[in-house]
Amino acid sequence: MPANKKLLILPGDGIGPEVMREVRRVIDWMDRRRAVTFDISEDLVGGAAIDARGAPISPDTVEAAREADAVLFGAVGGPKWDGLGFALRPELAILTLRKELGLFANLRPALVLDPLVDASTLKPDVIRGLDLMIVRESTGGVYFGEPRGVETLPDGQMRGFDTESYTTHEIERVARVAFGLARTRQRRVCSVDKANVMQSGLFWRQTVTALQRREFPDVELSHMYADNCAMQLVRSPKQFDVIVTSNLFGDLLSDLASMLTGSLGMLPSATLGAADSSGRRHALYEPIHGSAPDIAGKGSANPLAQILSFAMLLRYSFDMHEDAALIEKATTNVLASGLRTADIMVPGAAKVGTSVMGECLLREMDKLAA
Ligand code: IPM
Ligand code: MG
Repeated sequence: MPANKKLLILPGDGIGPEVMREVRRVIDWMDRRRAVTFDISEDLVGGAAIDARGAPISPDTVEAAREADAVLFGAVGGPKWDGLGFALRPELAILTLRKELGLFANLRPALVLDPLVDASTLKPDVIRGLDLMIVRESTGGVYFGEPRGVETLPDGQMRGFDTESYTTHEIERVARVAFGLARTRQRRVCSVDKANVMQSGLFWRQTVTALQRREFPDVELSHMYADNCAMQLVRSPKQFDVIVTSNLFGDLLSDLASMLTGSLGMLPSATLGAADSSGRRHALYEPIHGSAPDIAGKGSANPLAQILSFAMLLRYSFDMHEDAALIEKATTNVLASGLRTADIMVPGAAKVGTSVMGECLLREMDKLAA
């Protein structure tokens, strides 16, 4: 029997807790059916932590995340906390975890499942079979660059500023993740920057190019400006295999790419740190969607992105590929059977809420595991 796997669960705000409840049912199912036990702890982050403790994430929570084998994150934020100062924003919970745990590689797949081809606003031919992976740098760039601030100029005007900055090391380590992933896929990486405008962008391009020549000559590398990439993603997304880009461009392009699939409610993500000498790495998994305060508490949220984030966790943190595949297959089957939550509803399908979707997924897992 393998050793217990230590999971920290951080449901957060809005629909976070209700979609996480469905993950807990999947975990219970695995505890019952598989030779694996999870040692789970749960904690508050985001607005929930602000309300309870006055800060979006406590140092104890960061420590617990550091000690966990993997962190499963829900979503944070909501109108209730919108008026708080910059230092008290719920979003700081996720930004702090990324930074403190060194989670520099944010993997955001955009996968179109066949039963959901019609959920996209794009023509079926454009997106059918789409399987692209965005690797977004997530501990650097303008999100963390110094100096930053708002200052008063001698003439009395104010000036707000942030800094985009990338070192060789920061670029190379995230590009290595992208090239490594490409080797398990179609062996094509497109590096995205604004080398035509930004010094840091030109440096990014040169650094990725040199790395590819040195370490990944077997992977095809192309470059694209970020604005063109946004356009190409909508025009013809299947041209891409793996995209690697900076924190800010990755934030924008991954939201765009997610809508190719029809719903934010379907997409998981993984954020990985560097592996230590024993191969262990910090990792956090979260759905791409936010806390969706408008539908929170109504039992209508789609739990599949959160559940698929757990499947990614099994795959990347625990090498449990079969179990991950089982959850993913069950997801496709449930959708193929015509069940839909509101966000992916199409005429003729059966509309269900969060817990019925979770329940049906478990039944499907029963069938597949029988
Ligand atoms: C994301 C989110 C975050 C980001 C916010 C919540 C800080 O948009 O994970 O994409 O900008 O990174
Ligand atoms: Mg975002």
